[in-house]
Amino acid sequence: VSAELRIPAGELTSGQAKRYQLGSVPVCVVRIGEDFYAIGDTCSHANFSLSDGEVDSEECSIECWKHGSAFSLVDGKPRSLPATKPVPVYPVRVDGTEVVVKLP
Ligand code: FES
Repeated sequence: VSAELRIPAGELTSGQAKRYQLGSVPVCVVRIGEDFYAIGDTCSHANFSLSDGEVDSEECSIECWKHGSAFSLVDGKPRSLPATKPVPVYPVRVDGTEVVVKLP
């Protein structure tokens, strides 16, 4: 069974990350311009929230605020240490004024 998270696109401004919860899954949704990305919100290095980190719009990544690993918003892979494992990436589409994130 898959689940959908629907949020108004206007809740996010460009360069912003926000944490949402779908059931037991914490999701970090990021807006860069008119593009939206969704990755698992929990850093793969330790239990910290990626949405509290800083978005790099040019690199299309988000940096964990705790120890500084940057995660690609496209494939979820860490681009820098100390994290070595990827975080999940969820498909996103825009449906009118809503952003729809699909979770497996
Ligand atoms: S908790 Fe994210 S890099 Fe350490």
